[in-house]
Amino acid sequence: MVAWTVRLGLWQNRPMPTEQASPVPGFLYGTAWKEDRTPALVELALRAGFLGIDTANQRRHYFEAGVGQALTKAYSEGLLKRSGLFLQTKFTSQGGQDHRLPYDPAAPLRDQVAQSMASSLEHLGTDYVDSYVLHGPMSGYGWTTADAEVWEAMVKERDAGRARLLGVSNVSLRHLEQMLAAHTVAPAFVQNRCFASRGWDRYVRSFCQEHKIIYQGFSLLTANIEVLRHPFVNGLAREANASSAQIVFAFARRIGMLPLTGTTDPEHMRQDLASLDLELSPEAVEAIESLAG
Ligand SMILES: NC(=O)c1ccc[n+]([C@@H]2O[C@H](COP(=O)([O-])OP(=O)(O)OC[C@H]3O[C@@H](n4cnc5c(N)ncnc54)[C@H](OP(=O)(O)O)[C@@H]3O)[C@@H](O)[C@H]2O)c1
Repeated sequence: MVAWTVRLGLWQNRPMPTEQASPVPGFLYGTAWKEDRTPALVELALRAGFLGIDTANQRRHYFEAGVGQALTKAYSEGLLKRSGLFLQTKFTSQGGQDHRLPYDPAAPLRDQVAQSMASSLEHLGTDYVDSYVLHGPMSGYGWTTADAEVWEAMVKERDAGRARLLGVSNVSLRHLEQMLAAHTVAPAFVQNRCFASRGWDRYVRSFCQEHKIIYQGFSLLTANIEVLRHPFVNGLAREANASSAQIVFAFARRIGMLPLTGTTDPEHMRQDLASLDLELSPEAVEAIESLAG
């Protein structure tokens, strides 16, 4: 097995110290829903300073090969090296896909994982990803034997050196508890939609903290419009000469989250990265944490 490890710490866009190259950066640039604009937007994000990219081998929502095109261009222009980039993709089961499948749907799940990974590596022009994420369990109610088969196949990919770290997405506390009880390998990442109205996914986050799993939060802005409009958050933004979006990202980082943004706007790219350097008092963090739930 390849002995890569990740240490938890406070999130800045300065790379986190890890024992290998491709450390986990402080922000991930998300590539969903960008279609033909994917190569240009990924290039823009890399030029803006993002060091982490999130994608998926799910053509329905992502154009993974377009991410690869941007990376090839960025390497050839000397913008960055593969070893300086944190590259994350996902295995999406058939229920989450349209007809453009990256595997044979008649194959056993373990083979689908291997085929999807091979296709991802080809799309991304690399021989390993830094993180390989199970896009979502098959059932909303619990961890199934099918999920277990997929996870074990992902562990094999990691052991073969094709993935440095593994993760799981769209999970409840119950999924995680059952998953950890069923497997010897725990995820390094959980990636969830983060609603302020659910205490910013309080129970999953606290489970992650307890098990040294890095929590990746998406839809931090779009799922939390009420927070962006809240007078308290607007006041903090005014005081810091920042936007409410930046306050939300700064808050996310302060509570130990690894935030994602999929902004298409170069100015928002700059602002999102700059939010990592915004200071928030412990009182402000506590107030935002309990603002909506
Ligand atoms: N695992 C999963 O199932 C899953 C599901 C959904 C998403 N994801 C990942 O998460 C990534 C992010 O997705 P998301 O759901 O968080 O939505 P998103 O695509 O990042 O959308 C964020 C919205 O916020 C706006 N925005 C960003 N920065 C801003 C700023 N500084 N000021 C004002 N507006 C700003 C963007 O508008 P502008 O474009 O105008 O800036 C956009 O409308 C995706 O690309 C994908 O990689 C994963």
